[in-house]
Amino acid sequence: MRVRVDAAGNIRGVHAAASDTARRLYIGSHLDTVPHAGAFDGVLGVMMGISLVESLRGRRLPFSIEVMGFSEEEGVRFGIPFIGSRAVVGDVDAALLAAPDASGRTIAQAIGDFGLDASRMADARVTSNPLGYLEFHIEQGPVLDHLGQPVAIVDRIVGRSYADVTFVGSAGHAGTTPMDARKDALTGAAEWIGCVEAQARQIGGLVATTGRIDAAPGAANVIPGHCRVTLDVRHGDDATRNAAVDRLRSAAREIAARRGLTVEWLPRFDHAAVAMHPALVAMLTRAVERTGATATTMSSGAGHDAMILAPHMPAAMLFVRTPGGVSHHPDESALEGDVAVALAAGANFLDELAGGSGSEDPPLQP
Ligand code: GLV
Ligand code: MN
Ligand code: MN
Repeated sequence: MRVRVDAAGNIRGVHAAASDTARRLYIGSHLDTVPHAGAFDGVLGVMMGISLVESLRGRRLPFSIEVMGFSEEEGVRFGIPFIGSRAVVGDVDAALLAAPDASGRTIAQAIGDFGLDASRMADARVTSNPLGYLEFHIEQGPVLDHLGQPVAIVDRIVGRSYADVTFVGSAGHAGTTPMDARKDALTGAAEWIGCVEAQARQIGGLVATTGRIDAAPGAANVIPGHCRVTLDVRHGDDATRNAAVDRLRSAAREIAARRGLTVEWLPRFDHAAVAMHPALVAMLTRAVERTGATATTMSSGAGHDAMILAPHMPAAMLFVRTPGGVSHHPDESALEGDVAVALAAGANFLDELAGGSGSEDPPLQP
């Protein structure tokens, strides 16, 4: 492959087609991960893309293949996910590049620190006539493990909303300030966190997480004057998710007002649920069936780069069983035999897309 690193830090390798004018199939996933992570979330999909190209042994198809290792999917450092794949679809603007990390360093500066030039972001954009996008990923949940099946075709990725919620009170002396004279930002946040969990438990399919909390000034003998909490809300139905976010925002305001605090709500990311492309889902289903494995279809509760690519080109995903459903944890794993089934399905998928006999005109229309 011809390999380059684009201005967003995505690593991309192109396997040329039989002709220069051919369309391009993108195969990708992400290279970054979460703190205290496992070894498979994201990077397995990139390795499988490389492996599929390797299995062609130099054979040219009627379309080119570009394997993408996206630089930033999880959103850990800047609180904003999918920076790598957003660059590829031209959705990185000046406001996004100016977003700071916890130390105040912006995305543009971090890109410069890495030796890349954020002003060249347009070069990351896909230009070739896209044929589609395919992503392999571990399931990260228990469904395939319970079914005893190696792989599943993804038909839909649920929507998600992220926000930073900051409660602001007054810092004060822990020994001298009476309990009824306090404006404790952290206890306000704690009450709201309990409310987030309670609300999510009441609504079928809703998941809501407060994954990070920072209290300031952060000393044992000082009443916290500031407390920032991250919120992550997901549901397959966008209206249900949006209504839940609205209720949680009202609850934060009510709790803050009752405790003499203020609350700042900073939306970080909102994405509707995304359907995978029906023709590619059908093609992937046939590709799995030809391996002899059961072609189960399921929706994804986790976010994936595919949800960013899907509005711009036909997209499809194949999940690989995750033993125990354990992910975002060092015990995350995948079974070699399952990866082999997924790779065989990937090879079948390439064959069908190539028209079986290597015709010049792949059958899929966007
Ligand atoms: C991505 O890993 C997510 O949080 O779904
Ligand atoms: Mn992840
Ligand atoms: Mn992932």
